[in-house]
Amino acid sequence: MKVLVVYAHPYPESFNHAVLDKFIQGLQSKGHEVEILDLYALGFNPVLSAADLAALQQGQVPADIAAHQERVTRAEGLAFIFPIWWSSMPALLKGWIDRVFSLGFAYAFREEGPVGLLKHRKAVLITTCGGDQVFFDQSGIQKAIQLTVDLGVLAFTGIAKVHHEFFYNVVQTDPATREKYLEQAFSLGVHF
Ligand SMILES: Cc1cc2nc3c(=O)[nH]c(=O)nc-3n(C[C@H](O)[C@H](O)[C@H](O)COP(=O)(O)O)c2cc1C
Repeated sequence: MKVLVVYAHPYPESFNHAVLDKFIQGLQSKGHEVEILDLYALGFNPVLSAADLAALQQGQVPADIAAHQERVTRAEGLAFIFPIWWSSMPALLKGWIDRVFSLGFAYAFREEGPVGLLKHRKAVLITTCGGDQVFFDQSGIQKAIQLTVDLGVLAFTGIAKVHHEFFYNVVQTDPATREKYLEQAFSLGVHF
């Protein structure tokens, strides 16, 4: 399968980057064709501007958005790798979704209501967290992220099969647990 991996972390030495490497190794070990969108490295502009909205309303897609939409369309599967920042995704990734998953590309309004237009067979998300699992479960924050991202973005745009993996306590945990997370990232690539 052609898999587009959307990656949002600014620091090449980060744990997220190690997760990205392992996930890609897993995908490639099964012959998947991988394309990486490293949003920070690309210097993607995340601001959905008045000019963007005016152009999109007239059915014109700004060139930088169109280039990313082509990459999304080429893929049969999507993956997202990012850290939790303030109980959400990094703003750069949110801005990528704001601009790239535009009306007419990712969703449309029909008589029966909004419909998703994306045709991807599945999406996998890997999210690293500073907090521990008990906090995420008891506070409802994990559930909230799954509702807003897995349901509110991916299912809404037509991708019904979504797997979201959370790696907890990654800042303070021991090396063995980090290694286990990296093995899990590899396995998620293998079983994409
Ligand atoms: C701006 C910022 C906001 C953060 N907000 C949260 C948060 O709301 N919840 C949480 O569990 N961790 C939070 N963290 C911790 C990150 O999730 C954690 O540092 C990251 O997952 C570790 O992976 P890395 O080493 O690849 O950066 C935050 C970190 C930063 C820099």
